[in-house]
Parts: sequence; structure tokens; C-alpha cells
Amino acid sequence: MCGIVGYIGNNAVAEELINGLKNLEYRGYDSAGIALNDNENIDIFKAKGKLCNLCDVLEQHKKQLLSSTRGIGHIRWATHGSPTVENAHPHRSNDGKLVLVHNGIIENYKELKEELIKQGYHFVSETDTEVATHLVDREYHLAQSLEQGVARAVRLLKGAFAFCIMHQDEPDKIVAVRKNAPLIIGLGDHENFIASDVPAIIGKVQKIIYLDDGEMALVTQNQVTVKDFDGHILNKNPEVVNFSPEAISKRGYKHFMLKEINEQSDIVRNLLSERISSVDSPLNLQGINWNEILKKTKVEIIACGTSLHAAMVAKYLLESLVKVSVNVEAASEYIYRDTITGADTLTIGISQSGETADTITAVKQAKAKGAHILTLTNRVDSSIVRYSDNIIPLNAGIEVSVAATKSYTAQLISLYLFAIAWAEHQTGSNLKKLKELKQQLLELPAKMDEVLSKADALKEQALRLAQYKSFVYMARGVNLPTAMEGALKLKEISYINATGYAAGELKHGPIALLDENMPVLAILIPGGVTYDKMLSNCEEAKARHAKMIAVTSSLDEHLVTIFDEIIRIPEIDEALSPILANIPLQLLAYFIADALGREVDQPRNLAKSVTVE
Ligand code: F6R
Repeated sequence: MCGIVGYIGNNAVAEELINGLKNLEYRGYDSAGIALNDNENIDIFKAKGKLCNLCDVLEQHKKQLLSSTRGIGHIRWATHGSPTVENAHPHRSNDGKLVLVHNGIIENYKELKEELIKQGYHFVSETDTEVATHLVDREYHLAQSLEQGVARAVRLLKGAFAFCIMHQDEPDKIVAVRKNAPLIIGLGDHENFIASDVPAIIGKVQKIIYLDDGEMALVTQNQVTVKDFDGHILNKNPEVVNFSPEAISKRGYKHFMLKEINEQSDIVRNLLSERISSVDSPLNLQGINWNEILKKTKVEIIACGTSLHAAMVAKYLLESLVKVSVNVEAASEYIYRDTITGADTLTIGISQSGETADTITAVKQAKAKGAHILTLTNRVDSSIVRYSDNIIPLNAGIEVSVAATKSYTAQLISLYLFAIAWAEHQTGSNLKKLKELKQQLLELPAKMDEVLSKADALKEQALRLAQYKSFVYMARGVNLPTAMEGALKLKEISYINATGYAAGELKHGPIALLDENMPVLAILIPGGVTYDKMLSNCEEAKARHAKMIAVTSSLDEHLVTIFDEIIRIPEIDEALSPILANIPLQLLAYFIADALGREVDQPRNLAKSVTVE
């Protein structure tokens, strides 16, 4: 959601900004713009839609672009005001000298706008960002210094913001500000970068300063000074960039999503090899405060979207292995309830990006009530980490495709390992069962490879299914979240309607939808407690002439009498099956979306990090 890049150095800045913004495209956006400072003037170029439209605009001003070596750029995901050129950032002060880009939301923008209009400011956009621009400009005139003006203005703002600001009369600097929206400074050689996320500056710098909330940086070509909003200088230690350019390349795949699906078995291999030295020894999970966790009598897990589905799987595991009561809730709902959370509670936040606003608010809320906070995130440099007592890093590598795939698998594996480790720390756990689970986990990567190796056959099945307008995915028990996740993946990248439903609930309403135009995909794991019941539910759907698809490890020949398409996965214990059964659903969604010509990696209206509530 929105992305910021700033550059100050010796290179032609337009190119630096566009390259940086390209690496943030995955976050999702609907307009783009840059401001270039050539010492005398600040020029702004903007376009609706993708960055290539902005590049077309820049093409017409080639000469002008070469002389500027400092500037700020932005990709915008519309919140206040539709995605138009007027609403795109950068925004400019009425005198034309100050420019600003913004990630986040200014909550008190209405009051401020009224005040600024009374004071004579006029507005050309519908955005909250333009309010911030005029406010900084007003304070700049009062303080007669960009740094002071920004410091005064940010104290008047409520909400979440990361800003990059330039002024024509102080052309040697960019001011960067962070409050509840991420911002980093990349330290180069006679050049410095500002960005909302690391991919924007991967390969450009070796060292990064992570700004914390309530901090601003004065960035010149050769110096970076970080201060708090009261003007105190802060000593920030630069950190080494631990991502390589390879992390954000497609490596020959048509889409990042396909690459990321194919990376999953290696991610699982690595996670397991770090944590299971032998099935006979206890798991090696670092950074967990077991003394605290063992005292907890209840668990709540809060997350959004795909991460919420991982949370639902975790409920089954924790309740069956640890015998602790688990409440799973969408963060966006949790934050508007007076939850029964306290010192007896372990609150687990799951967020791939670590920047999801609802999940961060929920975690803060739980912490304020005395809960112990454990967070699973793929970005140990993200905001959620600041509010967590313990972290489980997902170690899945940067996930570029908007649709979460490899991070979901890493979440599941990490949750399995956490549940097993917790059970191992308890007295009275069934150690034989835990050992068996560890053994089966170790066998998982090879089985995942087997599923991935059958992608061509799945593609053919996907092509046969791409014509349908609506799907029902159904399952029971631990695979209900798998059905929901499969349906989410299909709808978000192919725009085909898909519902993930508890198979036993179908006859309480949704069965009315079924006819020959409605495929029903069922997840059936033989040996599991729900297999026979699932088969009956499939017969019921078949009797309504639905096109039937099975994802199953069963070799039962009778299945061909019920199912039109059978997607086979290797034999697996039901408890671990969500990891394996999910992969064909990811591939199915991918191949259907690709066949329909969808923009797989950047589906419409979606953003990778949802930083607004
Ligand atoms: C779907 C998807 C989203 C995210 C959700 C939470 O493919 O990616 O549903 O799972 O926005 O994001 P994180 O995990 O970053 O908090």
C-alpha cells in the first residue's frame, strides 16, 4: 500500500526514483508521481495507473530530467479521493516551493483542512496528504526553517504518516518523518536514499537506518541526522542490508507468484533443519520465553486474510497437542471488542508483512491489557516487532506477489513447530505422538516437491475449470481453513467468486446454489476423522449435478464415480495435510488467473501491506 522513495546524490534522480518505485510496485498502487529538485525549481510529474504511464510522461521531458540529482517519488493506493492525477503525490504548497509525499492516513485532516481554508490556503485535491502539505508550509513560514517547520507540523497531526519533504529554498536536503508508517534511510557513498521498504534500495546501499515512530531525519548528500520531534539528536546504529537483489528477481518464472509457490519446499526444509536436530530431541525454537508462555491458560490468535487462515489451523493444533483453549479472530473485529484478555493470555499476532494496521492495533490492545505477545512475521524489521515480547521469524524471503503463498506455508510450519515445542515443554504430553509428527514434518518437503512436479497436469485441469464463474471449496476440520484459503486465492487473483465453506454446513443454505454451473472442490484426507462424512457431503453435492473436484491422497477407485477432476496429493497424516493440500489450490488459482489474463502478481484493488484500518 503506497510506497515512498527519496534520493539525494550525484545521479540523475528520475531514474533512481523510478527504479526504486518499481521495486515497491508489489505493494499495490493506482497512481504514481515524482518531484525533482534541480536547485532552482522543483518539477512534479504524475500519472494515473501504473509506473509505465509515469515513464511515458517523463519521456516527453527527457532533457529537463537529467539536471536533477535530488527528488522524492511515490506510488499511491487511493484512500482519500479516487486515483486521479490531482490526487497523486507529490503534493505542492500554494507558493509551489514545498513538496511532500505521504504514506498513511491523517485522521484529523478535516479539522485541519477547515482551519487552513480559513487561513487562505486553497486545495486542488481530495487527499489528506495535501492538508499535511499546507500545514507543513504554514509552519515553515512561521519557523523559517524546513526542519523546524516539519517538527512543528507533525505535532499537530493525528494518525499514521511517513513523509518525505523538500523545499526549493533549502535544496540541499530532504526531511523524512515516521509515525506509525515505516520509513528507512539507505546510506550510500556521497548519496543517500529514503524508502518505505527495503526492496526499493536493495543493491544500492549496504547500510540502513530504520527510523522509529516519532523520529525525523535530515538527509543531505553526505550526512543523515536523526532527531525526535522535540529536536533531540538520536544516535541510530545503521544496520547491514541482509537481502540480495536475487531476493526480488523472478528467476525466470513468468510471475513472482509461481516462483514463490515453487520456493516453498526449500523454505520448509530450511525451517525444519534449523529446528529439528533429531526426532528424539526436543525442538530448538529460539527466542521464546517458555517460563511466561507455560503460565498462560488461554490463547488468542489475531491476524487478517491468509494469515487468519494460518491462525485457524493453529487452533486445531494447539487445542489437540497443548490442550489449551484458543480463540481465533480477525484483527479488524478484535479491535472493536472489549476482549477478555489479561495476564493469563498468550496473544499470537500473525502478519507476513508486520505492517498490517489492524493486526498491529490488536497486538497493542492485547499488550495494554497485560497479555504476553508472540508474533510470527516474515519481516523482523517491521513495525509489529516493536510491540511483541517474542518473535518467530518466518524466514520465507521477501514475498513480492500480492497473494500470499510461501509466507502462508512458513506460517503453518512455524505454528506446527511452536505447538509441538509447547507440548514438549509440558508435563504429561504424548511424546510418541510428538516424535511421529516431527518425523512426518521432515518427510514433508519431498512430498511438497512431488506435488509441485505435477504442476503441468494441474494446469490442464485449471484450463478446464477457468470458464466457471463461481466455485464452492469445502472441507471439514483442520482443512476448513485450507478450503477458505484456496477460495481466497482463487477470488483475489482470478476475480472468480469462490466461497470456502464447512462441508457440514452446506446443506444449511449454500446447497441451494449448486447446479451444473457451480463446481464444488472438496478436500478429502483418508484416515482422518472426517473422511466418511466428507464423502457423504460430496455425494449430496453430486446429486445436485455440481461439477465435482477432489483434492485427496486417497487412491480409492470409487472416487471416479463421484468426481469429475481428481487432484492427487501424496499420503499424509490429516494433522499435517493443510500444508500439502494447499499447494494444488495455489497452483489452481494461479493457472486459472493466468489463463484469464489477470495481472497475477498485482491484482486490482489489492495492496501487499494493508497499512490502514
Ligand atoms: C491474501 C493476502 C492477504 C494478507 C493479509 C494480511 O493472499 O495476502 O489476505 O494475508 O492482508 O497480511 P499480513 O500477513 O501481512 O498481515
